[in-house]
Amino acid sequence: MNNLNSNIISKKQNKGLKGIINIPSDKSISHRSLIFGALTGGKIRISNFSQGADCLATLNIIKQLGCKINHIDKGIIELIAPNKFSVPKNILDCANSGTSMRLLSGMLSAQNFDSVLSGDESLSKRPMKRIIEPLSLMGAKIKSNNYKAPLEIMGTVLSPIEYFSPISSAQVKSCILLAGINTDGITVFYEKTLSRNHSEKMLEYLEAEIETGQDDYGFYTKIRKSCLVPKNIIIPGDISSAAFFMVMAAIVPNSEIIIQNIGLNPTRTGILDVFDKMGVHYEFLDKKTVSNEEVGDIKVRYSPNTKGCEISGEIIPRLIDELPIIAVLAAQAEGQTIVKDAKDLRNKESDRISALVLGLTKIGIDIKEKHDGFIINGNKNDFTGGQEVETYMDHRLAMSFFAAGLKCKKEINIKDFAWVNTSFPEFLSIFNKISY
Ligand code: S3P
Repeated sequence: MNNLNSNIISKKQNKGLKGIINIPSDKSISHRSLIFGALTGGKIRISNFSQGADCLATLNIIKQLGCKINHIDKGIIELIAPNKFSVPKNILDCANSGTSMRLLSGMLSAQNFDSVLSGDESLSKRPMKRIIEPLSLMGAKIKSNNYKAPLEIMGTVLSPIEYFSPISSAQVKSCILLAGINTDGITVFYEKTLSRNHSEKMLEYLEAEIETGQDDYGFYTKIRKSCLVPKNIIIPGDISSAAFFMVMAAIVPNSEIIIQNIGLNPTRTGILDVFDKMGVHYEFLDKKTVSNEEVGDIKVRYSPNTKGCEISGEIIPRLIDELPIIAVLAAQAEGQTIVKDAKDLRNKESDRISALVLGLTKIGIDIKEKHDGFIINGNKNDFTGGQEVETYMDHRLAMSFFAAGLKCKKEINIKDFAWVNTSFPEFLSIFNKISY
């Protein structure tokens, strides 16, 4: 993807944002629909599939493993999975997508063929020890570049493990479940705080032998070798993408927007708990369950009286991807917001703590970097702006800076904004629809 020279300007938004919008498909669930779908050995229809570059990377990889994809309509695909994967002829390119690389490593480690997973410059810097270590305990054979991509995986028969993960990461958990599903015996994954549980929900839906719960050691997921039942999957809108629009509506005077069909899985709704603490006006209009995931419509209004708060502990995995846009909200709130226990933000598409602090400081926000988070002294004034900010190959930074630009006295220039295509290519067209 050539994302260079795609700078855009973001500037003060004088009119309220108004309208009803649909947010594109959940990225995490889209990846999983392809990967678990590929393991069903049958035909499934996936509706509202993500058009983001990350999910397209996973789609290309499962095609190289022998899955057929028919495009039925906009956002609707049919996946026909083979009984046995084909041996990939080429390197499997995960591009910018950590989810593709970490989840597929688990699945590929338990196959009877070898494969290589590679990534772009940003992904090649991200830590893979977190998956290589537990997979190696299961007997996986993986060569890496000092625990970084590319990963050369020599497929083999694995043994089950009981693993206590030092980090609460859905990517690590899903990787181990994808190895465990093809391994005799019971594989058990423990984490201290519950990370997003889309894999567990989808595995339950596709009738895997899976059990989840909590005991003295933490949250556990147990999986046995299972055959998955092919079933159609409808994917909700991504709350992590909706978050940008929710915050823009909360900080731009006179705004009122309705976002339809957002995934409301409680392991992803930490941002709504923060809205409650800070005083953002929002309400649910409708809630239902679709393909074993909670979904609903949310109305968000301009919220002039927001207050800073502390964000730490168990909530962090439930809003990890929303912290950059929450920082923008906090900068417009009265008082201090402290974000702690979020050290893993440094291992995302960019070092999101230092990149965010650098960008927001440049446009006049009072934000201080901490080893595991940041502290913001917010106020209701517009930010100074008038600067160029860097996106560091990171889609969520690009969209957070865009949102901050709406409250800047002088317009800001966002470098390489096209990284937004990683998860949300429709971002600007949806913004234009509600900004008049
Ligand atoms: C994801 C899990 C999170 C999140 C990422 C997507 C997933 O990462 O930040 O954007 O789909 O499993 P970690 O599990 O590493 O925290």
